This record gives sequence, structure tokens and C-alpha cells, in this order.
Amino acid sequence: MIGHRGEDFKNLYRAIHPGLQTLFGTKQPVFLSTSSAWGVMEASIRNLVDRGVLCCMCGAFSDKWFDVAKRCGKEAVPLQVDWGKHIDQKAIDRQLATGKFDTVTLIHNETSTGVVNPLPEICCTLAKYPDVALVLDTVSSFSGVRIDMDALGIDVMLTGAQKALALPPGFSLFSVSGKAFDRAEKIPNRGFYFDFLEFKKQRAEWMTPSTPSIAHMHALQSKLEEIFEEGLDARFARHERTNTLVHNWVRRTGFEFFAEKGFRSKTLTCVKNNKEIDEKASRKTSSGDRPRLRQNSRQNLSPFQHGRRN
Ligand SMILES: Cc1ncc(COP(=O)(O)O)c(C=O)c1O
Repeated sequence: MIGHRGEDFKNLYRAIHPGLQTLFGTKQPVFLSTSSAWGVMEASIRNLVDRGVLCCMCGAFSDKWFDVAKRCGKEAVPLQVDWGKHIDQKAIDRQLATGKFDTVTLIHNETSTGVVNPLPEICCTLAKYPDVALVLDTVSSFSGVRIDMDALGIDVMLTGAQKALALPPGFSLFSVSGKAFDRAEKIPNRGFYFDFLEFKKQRAEWMTPSTPSIAHMHALQSKLEEIFEEGLDARFARHERTNTLVHNWVRRTGFEFFAEKGFRSKTLTCVKNNKEIDEKASRKTSSGDRPRLRQNSRQNLSPFQHGRRN
């Protein structure tokens, strides 16, 4: 183990940083948080929301984010669609035109429903409102599909370790735009552990505000080598191919997709349990290379995660 205030640590952070910036599509610093993604999701609310936050809600994780914003004492308004449907940029536009909001939360790839939201269209709408910050959760799409943070004008982009990066859980990555840093400076009560400005100050010295999970950083270094050895285009194409395979399997076996057509995720697939399968029993027996069947507690649907077993 290396100490987190020593040169070996700084060299490790320095070494993985360019690859992370490439994956995020950003020139901004990329931060390492020793928390699961929810830590950074909550942090984004605490660091950015002043006037009010519009929470785009289309599934379990995005619905919960609204609850988290309220628990942080913020003025939060839901933009809810039925599960399986996507968030429409025109609905966001109507809400932002009221002038009530300075922040929008959006989950790119809603893991609980298998919906991918139309990010370029939503970002074009956000561009009409330069004083509004977009916080984007890419937990289950990051590194499986291309998401260029700077080109899209995303203000906070965050992801976890345990999805397409296939690392152990308990670690997350995020990046913050210049606009979002400026906003954070004016927001009181950001706390310490998740204060974006602490992350910025410490990263300038290739350090983290508190003792990080260094083991995750070693694993991340190895994962980045693997990703760039394969090549990003090849990696995205592989996810596309696996997605097609799973979709063909869904059609062949007579399941119905949960997500509406045109907005189905490339990195995971949710089906309705229209065949009334006993999920508990199925989960006990599913193993090996077969798709993993996972129960969702709120509705009759099951996400199948694609990709290699790592
Ligand atoms: C889209 C999405 N957002 C947020 C989370 C929360 O991640 P964690 O439980 O690792 O904090 C998950 C977890 O699966 C997720 O899929």
C-alpha cells in the first residue's frame, strides 16, 4: 500500500488522469470519490442548487434523486414520466422557461427501466439557459457509449465503478465544469467530504481531500490499460454488438421490451415479465455466460446487463 500524501500516490493519480479525461470527453479535472455514485449525486445537489432543481424522473434512480434533493432541503420540482418512457426535451424547455430553476438532474441511462434519454437534444435545450447547470448521471452508460462532456455542455458528469468499468463497488468518478465551480463558490453549507472546491484544490496537487480507496485506483489503472488497448471505437462497437445479440434473444424468446422503442439502452436491456417467470427461482439457477436476471422491487421488469464478465 502507498501513502495518499506521497509521491507514489501523486504519480498514480497523474498517470490515470489523461485516460479519464478522454473517457469523460473533457479538459476539466476528473475527481475520484471514495463513495458509491449516490455520494456524488447528493454532492451535486449540495454544491449547485440555489434557486431550485428540476429533477427529470423516469425510473427508480431518477425518482430517488428528487427525494434526495428534498432531503437536502432544496426547492425541487419533479418532471415525471411513466417508467419505460424517456424524458422529452420540450418538457424540460417548458419548465426552464419559468425561470424557477438553476439546476437540472438527469439520468442518462435509467438502469431500472432500460431507457436511454436523448442527451444531445436535451443538451441543445439546456444551451438556451446558460445560467442552468446540468448534472448528468452516467452510472450505467459511462465507457459503454460515447459521452463528450465538454462538447455537450454538461456541468457535472458522474459515474460509478461497478457497471461498464467492471470494478468493485464503492468508488465513483466525476468531473465539474468551470460554470459549476463558479456556482459552488456561492453556495453555502457544501460540507467538507463532498465539497467540489476541496476536490479541485487537492487535485491541483494530485491528491484527494480525504484518504481515498487507493486499491480502486490501481484497479482503475489496469482497467484503463485494457480499455485503451481495445480502443474506444472498438469498445463502443462491442457494446453495440452485444446489445443486438441480447435484443435478438429478447425477440426470439417472446419477451417484451420494457423501454419504449427508439429509447432503448445500449448497455443493458429490461424486459417485462410477460412470461410470468418465477424470478426468485430463476436468479438462483442463472449463472455462467447466460444473461443475469435481476429482480426489480418496484415493477415487473428485469434488467439484463450486457458485456464481458470481468
Ligand atoms: C443509473 C444509476 N444511478 C445511480 C445508481 C446508484 O449507484 P450506487 O448505489 O453505486 O451509489 C445506480 C446503481 O445501480 C444506477 O444504476
